[in-house]
Amino acid sequence: MRTLALVALLICGAVAADEIDQAKKRWAGSPHGPLLERILPPTFEARQLPERGSSGAELTLRYCVQCHNLPNPAMHHAPKWPGIVERMVLRMEGRGNLGPLMSDMMAGVRAPTPEEKRVLVAYLRKHGQKPLDPKRYPDVYLSSGEAFRLACNQCHVLPDPRRHTAAEWRAVVARMQENMEWMNRVVGTQPALDRAAGEPQLRLEEINAFLERHARK
Ligand code: HEC
Ligand code: HEC
Repeated sequence: MRTLALVALLICGAVAADEIDQAKKRWAGSPHGPLLERILPPTFEARQLPERGSSGAELTLRYCVQCHNLPNPAMHHAPKWPGIVERMVLRMEGRGNLGPLMSDMMAGVRAPTPEEKRVLVAYLRKHGQKPLDPKRYPDVYLSSGEAFRLACNQCHVLPDPRRHTAAEWRAVVARMQENMEWMNRVVGTQPALDRAAGEPQLRLEEINAFLERHARK
C-alpha cells in the first residue's frame, strides 16, 4: 500500500511538473505570456493542494495550470467556483472571451469532460474560502475595519477572521501584499483610483489589527 501511494504521488508529481513546464513554454512562446503569467501569483504550489491524492486535486493540476499559475481552492468561496470553472472551460474549448488572445496559445490545451468538470467544481467548492459574516463582525463597516474591507475584497470575498491565528494572519497579509503587486492591484504607490479621495493606501497595520482582534485564539 505504502509503495503504491508513493508511486501514485511520484506519477502525480511528474504529471504536474510536466503540465507546469508546458504552460511555461506556452507563455514563453506567446506575446501574451507576460499577461497570462500575471493572472494568478506563483505563491501556491502543487504540494499545498488539499487532499493531494484525490481526483479533484489531480484534475486541478491537469487542467488549471495550462494558462496561468496554479489556483488555490481557498481563494474563492464555494458559490463563486462554478461560474469561474464554466468561464475557464469555455476557454479550454476555444469558445471563451479573449478568444483571439487564447487561440494562438490553444494548441495542446486540453478541456475536461463533463464528468471531470463536475469533480473539479465539487473539489474547489469543498475547499473554498469561508466568507466573513458581517453580522458576526459588524465592525468591518466601522472605520476600524475600513482598511481591511477596502484592501481585502479586491480579488475575492472578505475572509472569515477565524480562519487563522494572529501570527498566521501576518504571514498571509504579507503574502497578499505580494499577490497584489504580482496581480497589479492597488498597493498604495499606484495612481489614485479616485483622485478626489486621494491615493488609496494599503494600511497594513490597521489590516493586521482588525484581523488580530478577531483571529482564532
Ligand atoms: C485556456 C486558458 C485557461 C485555462 C486552462 C484556465 N484558465 Fe483560469 N484564467 C484564464 C484567463 C485568460 C484568466 C483571466 C481572465 C478572467 O479572469 O477570466 C483566468 C483567470 C483565472 C482566475 C482569476 C480570476 C478570478 O475570477 O478570480 C482564477 C481563480 C482561475 N482562472 C481559475 C482557473 C481554474 C480553477 C482552472 C481549471 C478549471 C483554470 N482557471 C484554467 C485562462 C485559463
Ligand atoms: C490582488 C488580489 C488579492 C488581494 C487584493 C487579496 N488577495 Fe487574498 N488571495 C489572492 C490569491 C491569488 C489567493 C490564492 C493564492 C494564495 O493563497 O496566495 C488568495 C487567497 C487568500 C486566502 C486563502 C488562503 C489562506 O492562506 O488562508 C485568504 C485567507 C486571503 N487570501 C486573505 C486576504 C486578505 C486578508 C487580504 C487583504 C490584506 C487579501 N487576501 C487580499 C489574491 C488576493
